[in-house]
Amino acid sequence: MQNLKLNNGVSIPEIGFGTWQIPDGETTAQAVKTALEYGYTHIDTAACYQNEIGVGRAIRESGVPREKLFVTTKLWNTERGYDSALRAFAASLQKLQLEYLDLYLIHWPDNKNPALNTASWQALEKLYQEGLIKALGVSNFKPRHLQPLLDTAEIKPAVNQIEYHPGFRQEETVEFCQKHHILVEAWSPLGSGRILQNPDLQRIAQKYNKSTAQLCLRWCRQNGTLPLPKSITPERIKENAQALDFEISAEDMQRINALPQFGWSGSDPDKMDF
Ligand SMILES: NC(=O)c1ccc[n+]([C@@H]2O[C@H](COP(=O)([O-])OP(=O)(O)OC[C@H]3O[C@@H](n4cnc5c(N)ncnc54)[C@H](OP(=O)(O)O)[C@@H]3O)[C@@H](O)[C@H]2O)c1
Repeated sequence: MQNLKLNNGVSIPEIGFGTWQIPDGETTAQAVKTALEYGYTHIDTAACYQNEIGVGRAIRESGVPREKLFVTTKLWNTERGYDSALRAFAASLQKLQLEYLDLYLIHWPDNKNPALNTASWQALEKLYQEGLIKALGVSNFKPRHLQPLLDTAEIKPAVNQIEYHPGFRQEETVEFCQKHHILVEAWSPLGSGRILQNPDLQRIAQKYNKSTAQLCLRWCRQNGTLPLPKSITPERIKENAQALDFEISAEDMQRINALPQFGWSGSDPDKMDF
């Protein structure tokens, strides 16, 4: 697995291991340790996944040196604001038992009170300046949420983590991010499993002797996004870790890009009021 460079020069492994919906404790610890054995060095968790303790345990028990890992967690919506963001960050570090984070994201924008997005961001900037976070970012931000942040931020977001998979490309947001050198991370790159039975994807994957999941992950990379596949199944964790060693032709990329919308989670950042 190769590294990409974020807009502040920090290296980020080009595929990350997703942990949403993995129950904390043994299940999380086991899944993350398996991922680390199969070569992932990039782990994506969040305070609201309630499995930071298991992620931290896996990291310690794996014996992989901290500096070889890239760990992301996220500020949950109930903790928005300057002081509460600082407290939430400290709580996440404590659960993970880490001294610093590689990437910290605001999980969702606040639509009702956008000033809270700015206040949270200022807390993240303070932590960044103290060296406690190596890179800052957001998640589920559309251009209308990003622009005010870009207008006021001292430190520009390096990442925007959004839903992104064949059948749901969010072109406007991706173009905006690419123009502003913000790396797009793809959440649900397999559509949470919903898109894997699509016959067009299955046919194209067969041509390359790859699984449909591998095709989706490679497709993310070739479109310049960084996929975060989740699995608790060892064979799938391995399969997904080996997804990037082939090239999808320009013609097939176009075919996949042109598929009509399908597999969307239904979560629209403009309509979320939590
Ligand atoms: N920022 C956000 O708001 C946000 C929102 C959603 C997700 N995320 C991040 O993105 C990550 C990935 O998204 P996701 O968890 O929705 O789902 P995903 O990675 O798109 O899909 C996971 C599902 O696909 C199955 N699967 C995985 N690999 C497979 C393979 N090779 N073949 C067949 N099935 C396979 C998994 O089953 P098993 O586990 O049973 O193997 C699971 O049911 C999350 O874990 C999280 O880190 C972020």
